[in-house]
Amino acid sequence: MIMTHQDQTTWHNLSSDWINWADRLAPAAGKINRHMIEAVDLPALAHARGGADLAVLDLASGVGEPAFTFARALSGQRDVSANTPGMTGHVTATDIVPEMCDGLSARAQEDGIANITVMPANMENLPFDDQSFDVVSCRFGVMFCEDPDLALRESHRVLRAGGRAVFMVWAPLIDNPLFAAMDAVLGNILGIGFDAAGLDPFSFGNVDQSMMRLESAGFRGIQATTHSPAGRIPETVAFWKPQMDMLFGHILREASDMEMGSINAAMFETLSPYIEDGHFQVPICFHVLSGTHA
Ligand SMILES: C[S@@+](CC[C@H](N)C(=O)[O-])C[C@H]1O[C@@H](n2cnc3c(N)ncnc32)[C@H](O)[C@@H]1O
Repeated sequence: MIMTHQDQTTWHNLSSDWINWADRLAPAAGKINRHMIEAVDLPALAHARGGADLAVLDLASGVGEPAFTFARALSGQRDVSANTPGMTGHVTATDIVPEMCDGLSARAQEDGIANITVMPANMENLPFDDQSFDVVSCRFGVMFCEDPDLALRESHRVLRAGGRAVFMVWAPLIDNPLFAAMDAVLGNILGIGFDAAGLDPFSFGNVDQSMMRLESAGFRGIQATTHSPAGRIPETVAFWKPQMDMLFGHILREASDMEMGSINAAMFETLSPYIEDGHFQVPICFHVLSGTHA
């Protein structure tokens, strides 16, 4: 079945894939989160609040990131990688899909993360009072809303004056060769790319336009940084599999063994220009947008 653009049922159908891959992807996930932590400047917020516990709201949390990273940074222990000196606080993690929230709760319990509360919530209609949080975070979520600008206004509404929001968003498809390969290969073999799968990951790809969207939502002191890290993965590893499952798992489950063989061969072929020294080195490119509730 071809789904409509940004169909929310896509994420319901993908929750088992997210739960399946979450623990194995956690180390890589943690690495990119430091850009979000830096963008909100937790030490400055803690100082402004006189050392009181900080309240963080993470939106579209999926099965845990960056909610877990913020919770660890605010656990009271010095976090050397995030350079946070013993700050304390509580994270409210939310997602529109209850099964994602269940997966997140289970992982938080397994990891012994105590300063986190989990609840289903649509980030376009947040069940929180005005000005209730010091930080709002959202990693690779806002672009999947039916009305992302409404979600930005809601994020601004629930922030306290002086609080800071941070959004990690994908740079354009052309700067993300892994996604470009998936879109082309799945389009060729199954007739389904991002659009037909009901996903539009790249609508915040243009930095200037995205900064204007934050400004229109009420944010001030808007900043943006762009990052292009590349992992180093042996060429024998089908490293695209986790991302492909987490974005297209509901479609791949219907594919035949022969189609899956063709997909994997075509992914290897398309990404082979990025093999150096026996290793794939494929960059992912994203922006970190942040702004303050003045
Ligand atoms: C690409 S995943 C990102 C998950 C997580 N933040 C991460 O980076 O690993 C997008 C998430 O957005 C959620 N989502 C989509 N629309 C939403 C909405 N309107 N409100 C809240 N969550 C939403 C989906 O259920 C999914 O878990």
